[in-house]
Amino acid sequence: MKKYYITTPLYYVNYKPHIGHAYTTLAADVLSRFLKSKGIAVYFQTGTDEHGSNIEKTARQFNKEPKQWADEIMSEFKNLWKTLHIEYDYFIRTTDKNHEEQVQNIFEKMIENGDIYLGYYEGLYCQSCENYLDESELIDGKCPIHKKEVEKIKEETYFFKLSKYEKPLLEYYKKNPEFLSPSYRAGEIINFVQSGLKDISVSRTKVAWGIQVKSNPKHTIYVWFDALINYITGPGYRTDGSSSQFNEVWPCDVHLVGKEIFRFHAIIWPAILMSIGVKLPKKVYAHGWWTVEGEKMSKSKGNIINPQDIVQEYGLDAFRYFIFREVPFGQDGDFSLSAFKTRYNSELANDLGNLFSRTINMINKYLNSSMPDKPYNSQTFSQLYSSQTEIEKDMYSLQFSSALDKIWKNISILNKKIDTEKPWEMAKTDKEKVKFFLYEMVWSLRLIASWIYPFMPDTSTKMQMYLSVGQIGDSKKVEPLFPRKL
Ligand code: MSP
Repeated sequence: MKKYYITTPLYYVNYKPHIGHAYTTLAADVLSRFLKSKGIAVYFQTGTDEHGSNIEKTARQFNKEPKQWADEIMSEFKNLWKTLHIEYDYFIRTTDKNHEEQVQNIFEKMIENGDIYLGYYEGLYCQSCENYLDESELIDGKCPIHKKEVEKIKEETYFFKLSKYEKPLLEYYKKNPEFLSPSYRAGEIINFVQSGLKDISVSRTKVAWGIQVKSNPKHTIYVWFDALINYITGPGYRTDGSSSQFNEVWPCDVHLVGKEIFRFHAIIWPAILMSIGVKLPKKVYAHGWWTVEGEKMSKSKGNIINPQDIVQEYGLDAFRYFIFREVPFGQDGDFSLSAFKTRYNSELANDLGNLFSRTINMINKYLNSSMPDKPYNSQTFSQLYSSQTEIEKDMYSLQFSSALDKIWKNISILNKKIDTEKPWEMAKTDKEKVKFFLYEMVWSLRLIASWIYPFMPDTSTKMQMYLSVGQIGDSKKVEPLFPRKL
């Protein structure tokens, strides 16, 4: 059976990972955990992009060889994924021998089929993008992303015949409207392709730290060409016949990317695949960008958020919750500590945390700590359960904030139920009634716990442990799920 294949971009090993990298990787983890909980087999791949002159330069600044530098930063990424409880299946590095070999083979295959040819390139180059830019893309003569001067460069280079794929790409977009996601980002790509694609330069003679062209080693392969191919080399594509694992995962179900690299994934990547006769991915989903307290993150401003710091202060699940609740997945958003704290105290400590501890405390008090069986004919439970289809629909379509919104509406229904039905008064007069009431609460909370699992796996597990059938709860006071923060 085919597995559901999810990817993140391969992150540059320039500097340590930050909240932006964590965001995409957590999104992949949330989706993956959700699908697995539905019994769907998943293959989730992430990794690091390690070649190119930027990385070489950074390494030299620190008096390191590029590979040694890459090893160090790569470990920082792996450590962060561990801290964030990211359950990926495979971590690929572009310096992996197998990847390097396959990239070389693919390059040769495309020289043979005529899609890659030798020529000269003269153009405006942005060092930070590692990409040539068109005059029309510049703002005040500078790169629109990095706001840096571009250089005029002339060099011998191999070209990829991207122009040949203009029509086939437009046809693919038309036949597969979900390929360019979210749909509000599709127009930008379609317009760009419609306005005409030029062949692109895919090798460098001036960059030493890269994969050499096998038949002409003075050229190294353009980093983007090298990196994009990871999506097939990781799961086992070989030019001389793919592994059985490859056929189990390809075509990819969703490439998660930030909006700034949407074009590479929506245009160049499918064109490479068409050239080598590999099926195209089903979807590229481009999410928005985080700013911090209203500003772009940058080393010079010193405002880069390290997720480890937030996790240390507020706990992992609060971080995982916040980034998906605060901003609809797809749009830009701002990370502010005051917004974080407000949501933490009101939605986690108060809404969910209190609901849970109130319920457990009442079970200890009124049911002698024994967990109840399923309440038949519970209207509350049925009402909650009826929103599951909509929540799942949101999850399948990566509308994470909308799913969380629906879950929290249900949490507030349960809180209201306690406030209006006042079980402590029932307990004085009608033992059976309070029992039924608590049965309803427990079953409803189990549902909530299963819904929050992809976002907050630890909290979900903790809740389910306390709420498991037949277990005698600890009659000591239950620890708050989310201790209040001043
Ligand atoms: N190496 C390329 C990708 C190659 S994929 C074949 C690259 N690397 S990167 O390290 O710059 O990572 C970019 C990605 O990190 C973005 O596309 C996004 O997924 C994530 N983010 C980095 N900063 C971000 C924000 N400020 N906000 C949200 N996500 C951002 O590009």
